[in-house]
Amino acid sequence: MTNQDGFETLAIHAGQEPDPVTGAVVPPIYQVSTYKQDGVGGLRGGYEYSRSANPTRTALEQCLAALEGAPRALAFASGMAAEDCLLRTVCSPGDHVLVPDDAYGGTYRLFARVFSGWGLAHDVVPVSHVAAVREQLAARKITVVWAETPTNPLLGIADIRALAEAAHEAGALLVVDNTFASPYLQQPLALGADVVVHSTTKYLGGHSDVVGGALVVADPELAERLAFTQNATGGVAGPFDSWLTLRGVKTLAARMDRHCRNAMRVAQMLAEHPAVSEVLYPGLPSHPGHKTAQEQMRAFGGMVSFRLLGGEEAAVRACGRTRLFTLGESLGGVESLIEHPARMTHASVTGSPLEVPGDLIRLSVGIEDCDDLLDDLRQALSDS
Ligand SMILES: Cc1ncc(COP(=O)(O)O)c(C=O)c1O
Repeated sequence: MTNQDGFETLAIHAGQEPDPVTGAVVPPIYQVSTYKQDGVGGLRGGYEYSRSANPTRTALEQCLAALEGAPRALAFASGMAAEDCLLRTVCSPGDHVLVPDDAYGGTYRLFARVFSGWGLAHDVVPVSHVAAVREQLAARKITVVWAETPTNPLLGIADIRALAEAAHEAGALLVVDNTFASPYLQQPLALGADVVVHSTTKYLGGHSDVVGGALVVADPELAERLAFTQNATGGVAGPFDSWLTLRGVKTLAARMDRHCRNAMRVAQMLAEHPAVSEVLYPGLPSHPGHKTAQEQMRAFGGMVSFRLLGGEEAAVRACGRTRLFTLGESLGGVESLIEHPARMTHASVTGSPLEVPGDLIRLSVGIEDCDDLLDDLRQALSDS
């Protein structure tokens, strides 16, 4: 592969040369824990033990690095394992970090319930307002600014370039969780971010059949430190999970184009619906982050959130009435999902500054026939 190859080419070929032994055109699943050494320390291709490295995982890591335009990526057992490894590596007890006022509930829980006990302090800040972030950065020494964009579940947009500038002026790292956009729609490292986090469970895997995570890093020295922690603590992606994720990645661009097209139509339909009080989708010109999203994203993604005039009970009722949208957590698969964040994905942030409204519904718009999806939503909302 060359740096000039396009995204779709890299997704299919980066890290995935035909197997040198058999010519197999996709990387084999190296379902193995250890490797024969040719004399003590005589490793073949650097493989020694599969916690440290495994060829199927290497293929995935090389592909993810190419897709984010980075020298190095590391694949983990889950998005949370990736986040945990990152924080242990770049922070120390006594440090202070800034976390977004809207984010995946599990990410906030990691800061509030796990790393707080380790001595890592956090402040919640609206990362879509760079001035507010700058104010916090001026108030004390900050190690990490953490951002999601678009955010889960309110679809807020943060200006990555402006955040990177602000973070770097203050000597902090900018971490961007790129799960909702995927590298096809947005490449935070090119905009100045230091580390990209992925739950590869979502769009990268794309088929709701594997849990995984990744860190993608611009600085090779930081990548080396992360690889040390990954090996020392062990939250690695297994070979079969790596293979499934890599299989999903090959079609990321084609799937994302369709997710985006369907989501835009769903958002437009909901914006006109009499039961809906507000649609949160960065593709709508009315969205406060629309212009920034246009500048830093190829398209606006497959996630749509909306609020109902009928309140929480109406939202819960509608979630139970869909035929094609499956009621379930997670997102980013080919099949459409519906959920009630306040009682499901974000139940853990109830009572925190990240609490989400009870009248909110989140959709992961899949790649089915969009007319069928629109009909399904209309019937689910028919007497809301
Ligand atoms: C934006 C975001 N980041 C991180 C995670 C955590 O990833 P995982 O569930 O793979 O551990 C999720 C999970 O929903 C997520 O939505």
